[in-house]
Amino acid sequence: MKNKIKTLQNKIALAHLGGGQNRIEKQHEKKKLTARERVEYLMDEGSFEEIGMLVTHRTTDFGMEKEVYLGDGVITGYGTINGRMVYVFAQDFTVFGGALSETHAEKICKVMDMALKTGTPMIGLNDSGGARIQEGVRSLGAYADIFFRNVKASGIIPQISAIMGPCAGGAVYSPAMTDFTMMVENTSYMFVTGPNVVKTVTNETVTSEELGGASTHSTKSGVAHITSANDVECLEDIKKLLSYLPQSNNETTPKVPFELGDEIREQLNGIIPENANKPYDMHDVIKGIIDEDSFYEVHKNFAENILVGFARIGGRSIGIVANQPMFLAGVLDVNSSVKAARFTRFCDCFNIPLLVLVDVPGFLPGTDQEWNGIIVHGAKLLYALSEATVPRVTVITRKAYGGAYDVMNSKHIGADMNFAWPSAEIAVMGAKGASEIIFKKEIAAAEDSAAKLLEKEAEYAEKFANPYRAAERGFIDEVILPQDTRRKLIKAFSMLENKVSELPKRKHGNIPL
Ligand code: COA
Repeated sequence: MKNKIKTLQNKIALAHLGGGQNRIEKQHEKKKLTARERVEYLMDEGSFEEIGMLVTHRTTDFGMEKEVYLGDGVITGYGTINGRMVYVFAQDFTVFGGALSETHAEKICKVMDMALKTGTPMIGLNDSGGARIQEGVRSLGAYADIFFRNVKASGIIPQISAIMGPCAGGAVYSPAMTDFTMMVENTSYMFVTGPNVVKTVTNETVTSEELGGASTHSTKSGVAHITSANDVECLEDIKKLLSYLPQSNNETTPKVPFELGDEIREQLNGIIPENANKPYDMHDVIKGIIDEDSFYEVHKNFAENILVGFARIGGRSIGIVANQPMFLAGVLDVNSSVKAARFTRFCDCFNIPLLVLVDVPGFLPGTDQEWNGIIVHGAKLLYALSEATVPRVTVITRKAYGGAYDVMNSKHIGADMNFAWPSAEIAVMGAKGASEIIFKKEIAAAEDSAAKLLEKEAEYAEKFANPYRAAERGFIDEVILPQDTRRKLIKAFSMLENKVSELPKRKHGNIPL
């Protein structure tokens, strides 16, 4: 028996070495942790249980039978993060550059199946040179086995992908189908085809970092939801993100202990500038409403004219979608609509109530937007909010103009509670534009057209640039003092906790894509 125990111990020690000490050192030289170090850091101490440590590849082409590593380049298993169960896979770059073989993928699929069966979040730590070239089409098929499972699990368990090294070619499509893609700055990149192919096909010269680094994907493409300075921060970000999420779509969101106090926040009264054309930072509104330091922003540097992220209010997790007047006056455009629609759908999948903060002058005009399909993309947000059955609460802080009023969680598309501040302006458009159209003849006939326009503008603003017309019709449930917003929202979300709303039975809707 002693020998048998020794044999097992030797195998475990060998598996722990991955591709060997030299390659581990190379990984460290690149300022990257190894797959095993990442898993250890991510999980609660001593909680990780590995599955498939002794799996090896079955390839014999190109002398591969002589190069066999226990675990085959991916560590898979389960454990807890802050006491809550998760499944994880971590690709080991020290073994064939983390390249995906048939058996490597089988290991990933096994834990994905377990995660789905048990209603447990799935976390993928990606660091891979892509399909294992020596295996040809078998590794491509293996990728598809993963993609298929990503889709099956979508909306049932949260799926989080961290990109902690290369992720190229077909490999990008698994992260793209998960709920969140996180990237480590300077050591990770994602692209469908790398710089060499780009040069050959389009004659563009571009570095890996420019083409698909964390900065590119967090600002230009929106592929990355969150970026982190290094491996450790990325793993901390995963833990933080999970703290807002339920384990599956069968659970409600986690709650932390909370007791209602006076909850008046006088600083909210002074946020909206006297001049309606002046910007202010919607973060200040969010800060004044939520539980202290609880905002976790997603897609921070992409489409900054809208803010999305998780927070807690009265101890409950919520999702926030908010126009940001600091950027493009908070207008809705292609990217902001898609960003907010995707976030809304995630929250709705996982029973996370939604708070929508509105200060929107409308949709962004222009050929760029029209030719890029603002009609269809704007419709995504309208569709996503309309079909969301989670508790939905709106606060209009200032402008709610035109079609954008409808889109931003209006009563008409199913919001449960709609509040407005006294500074709200709920109208078809701004007073100037409106007056120029409806009083066109009167203004043209006036001796002093400019003065007439100002007079008409004031008349229109007096009538419509306020929340009271909407409140009279019940489109707004209550006009509230800014200082009372936090208290009102805690109560509203508490009241809505047991909301039940079912959509008509159908295969699936047809969201405008
Ligand atoms: N299949 C099999 N082995 C691979 C591989 C793949 N797709 N990608 C990398 N490897 C191996 C390398 O042969 C090398 O093995 P070694 O340690 O025995 O020398 C090891 O992984 C590390 O790769 P290396 O190229 O030395 O690392 P790098 O950091 O300089 O470059 C990549 C990393 C990912 C940019 C580079 O390896 C690469 O371009 N790989 C191919 C990417 C690709 O086209 N994949 C297929 C399309 S999906």
